[in-house]
Amino acid sequence: MFNAISSQARNLVNLTRASSKKTKTKVVTITSGKGGVGKSTFTANISYLLAKRGYKIAVVDADIGLANMQVLFDIRPKLTLFDYIEGRNTISEVTSNTNFKNVSLVAGKSGYQYSNLKNSLVLSRVIEDLKELNIYDIVLIDTGAGLNSYVQEFLSISNNVVALTTTDPSALTDVYALMKMLSLDKEKLLLCFNHTKNYKIGEAITTSLVNLAKKNSLNQNFMVKYIGNVSTSANISTTSRLRKLFAHEFANDDITKQLQGIIDILLNDIK
Ligand SMILES: Nc1ncnc2c1ncn2[C@@H]1O[C@H](COP(=O)(O)OP(=O)(O)OP(=O)(O)O)[C@@H](O)[C@H]1O
Ligand SMILES: [Mg+2]
Repeated sequence: MFNAISSQARNLVNLTRASSKKTKTKVVTITSGKGGVGKSTFTANISYLLAKRGYKIAVVDADIGLANMQVLFDIRPKLTLFDYIEGRNTISEVTSNTNFKNVSLVAGKSGYQYSNLKNSLVLSRVIEDLKELNIYDIVLIDTGAGLNSYVQEFLSISNNVVALTTTDPSALTDVYALMKMLSLDKEKLLLCFNHTKNYKIGEAITTSLVNLAKKNSLNQNFMVKYIGNVSTSANISTTSRLRKLFAHEFANDDITKQLQGIIDILLNDIK
């Protein structure tokens, strides 16, 4: 399952690199391996906080078949990523405003059949087209669980990969597998811990993962950078259930401060 990014995806990266026009847009892919660790919640909340700082953000719901970003943003977009993929609409047409200034969403479609995606490489074109609009400062791609070919494709076209994990051993096993895979193609992985009360716990586990990578002789030029932790809060699940954004409702909460700290590092690191 956890092989290097597929050669098909790699060919595409080369192609898109060659064709890419100059753009200010930076692309950040949020992934995890293990499902349910909080990727979509994290992505929605940081999109809002980044927009509050004045950045124009586009969120792409890349959880093929299980899209839920429109629920987190409490909007009902008429058009989705798949209207674009199936050639009916342009990228601008399938990009919806949210209720938050400077946050746009390219929504997915729940229940979309994988088999409908005859050529998965079309997913990369979505991102290329968003970049070419040259409107957005940052595109945040929220991937689904696992490392299937769609997730790999989004990873391959992104200069910045954030892995969200918990301290759960199975989540960490998946993160290590992700490190192994990315170390073959990428320079860096940004690692963030969810459901983790203490900054130092995430830091210590990151050091252990890096030491394990050294012991197993993973590519020495590949860097894993710890970007911070997010504690568990019942208010996060409650706001999600009520279709509100935690960081908007609880602007002064300690968890929002944790998210702000993560954004500070992220903004310094992404390219
Ligand atoms: N720090 C947190 N504290 C409390 N609840 C959280 C926290 N982070 C996420 N959750 C809750 O965990 C659940 C799963 O979160 P989410 O859907 O964002 O995970 P995911 O990684 O996107 O899942 P999937 O892999 O299925 O896409 C949601 O109910 C969400 O509200
Ligand atoms: Mg999700």
